[in-house]
Amino acid sequence: MDINKLKKQAIADLENVASESALEQMRLKYLGRKQGKLTAVLRGLKNIKSTEKAKVGKQTNIFKNKLLELIQQKKNKLANAQDHSSFTSSLDITAPGKKQEQGHLHIITQVLQDIQNIFSSMGFSIAQGPDIEDDFHNFTALNLPEDHPARSMWDTFYIKSKNKLLLRCHTSPVQIRHMENNQPPLRIIAPGRCFRYESIDATHDIQFYQVEGLMIDKNISISNFKGIISEFFKRFYGKETKIRLRPSYFPFVEPGFEIDISCIFCHGKGCKVCKKTGFMEIMGAGMVHPNVFRAVGYNVKDNWQGFAFGMGVERLAMPKYKINDIRLFYENDIRFLRQF
Ligand code: FA5
Repeated sequence: MDINKLKKQAIADLENVASESALEQMRLKYLGRKQGKLTAVLRGLKNIKSTEKAKVGKQTNIFKNKLLELIQQKKNKLANAQDHSSFTSSLDITAPGKKQEQGHLHIITQVLQDIQNIFSSMGFSIAQGPDIEDDFHNFTALNLPEDHPARSMWDTFYIKSKNKLLLRCHTSPVQIRHMENNQPPLRIIAPGRCFRYESIDATHDIQFYQVEGLMIDKNISISNFKGIISEFFKRFYGKETKIRLRPSYFPFVEPGFEIDISCIFCHGKGCKVCKKTGFMEIMGAGMVHPNVFRAVGYNVKDNWQGFAFGMGVERLAMPKYKINDIRLFYENDIRFLRQF
């Protein structure tokens, strides 16, 4: 038989094959041991003239190998198609999708970032200090010498150690560390964790975040403080937010004051949350005491002056996100955390 004709026929047959059983039929038709057309050609080689035998034999063997390869390819193709069809038949494309769980930043981290962005835009840079402090930076340098009665304003966790270490009870020691290493003019905020030996309730925890602020230059006055802090609150809570300053006492400032913001729930009219006062207490502040400048080695004759403040981050977040209990922040209840 003409080998080229056989080739054409086999390839046409292969193209028409649409199932694995038809492929097996086709294989037997050409390569079957008993009736295979190609097998017959190979068998008939012994009757061919010896001059042509080598040539025809070589051609037929090449064709046989090629055909085996094509059959295998077809077999793979049919198997793949079958896999795919069983996959699509069990896939319900109308079923509702499953939402991929995505992590996000903790609400306190988000609030810290908001605070940092607002102050950065007003030229403040960020300073940091250690959570474990020494007595000097946490108290003495802040005009709170040993045995000063005002130390009892802060219920402090002390660490049993030779050099009187403690868990800082506020971020004010970062002011001291920054001034020890930098000369005015300066403008910083210091966000960080604080610890207090307190009884826990809806507005007090034993660990919480504060953001300290410090601005020192010549001629910095309470007006500068009011301008900066009211701008901060307007951007943090909304344009209609008003602030008021009340006289208060912190040994490291003179004068010292407490800052209230107009209640963001009733906008100053008076409600349950602000206990009918129209205002909510949010932070402590004041003009830096000259003894603090002395403690960090500034020359008082240089007439540096400035303000400092310390705000509680959870307390700031609570009215903004309508959270009525500080404990919720750290219980790690995913139903709470997911909301922000
Ligand atoms: C201070 O800690 C001063 N260092 C703030 C300061 C800095 C005053 C610079 C003057 C100049 P006070 O103890 O009031 O102050 O705390 C400041 C804020 O921290 C409070 O207004 C409150 O928002 C938050 N805070 C205090 N104790 C707790 C607590 N146990 N849980 C949550 N927040 C607290």
